Amino acid sequence: MAVLEILQYPDPRLRIKAESVTQIDDDIRKKVEDMYETMYVNQGVGLAATQVNIHLQIFTMDISDTRDKPLCVINPEILTKSGMQYDYHGCLSVGAGLGISDKLERAAKLRLRGMDLDGKIFEWDLDELAAICVQHEVDHLNGILFIDHLSRLKLDRIRKKIDKAQRRV
Ligand code: NI
Repeated sequence: MAVLEILQYPDPRLRIKAESVTQIDDDIRKKVEDMYETMYVNQGVGLAATQVNIHLQIFTMDISDTRDKPLCVINPEILTKSGMQYDYHGCLSVGAGLGISDKLERAAKLRLRGMDLDGKIFEWDLDELAAICVQHEVDHLNGILFIDHLSRLKLDRIRKKIDKAQRRV
């Protein structure tokens, strides 16, 4: 396993749309193992392949308190969404280590279809943090960042914070 480098906003590679996985082989399994390790080392709730410069429809997540229930979703598809929740979002690709987060409106519940590492298709009904995480990661796979959903004013504030930190390096 290896810890992969996480692309940082405004890296243009974060805007690449991920392609579907057509076959699960050793290469895909290795990529997922690396994504798990990268997610845990960085204490992320979720990680999309796009963030580690792999442009395939794969994300990993672990929403457990014990941090020992890794999940991997391949070719995710949100089938239905309902309700609304308003909660904080952060992202390992947006000002990592700067504590940048902001409140965002998201569907409260959703039905997700995906494929597991054995190539089995499943459907899950998710809510709360799991639903937020899935919407966030599916956005990543489409080249969308959570800050894209914020107002101009809030985005400018975040940009300034990141610029300032980058100048210090
Ligand atoms: Ni993210």
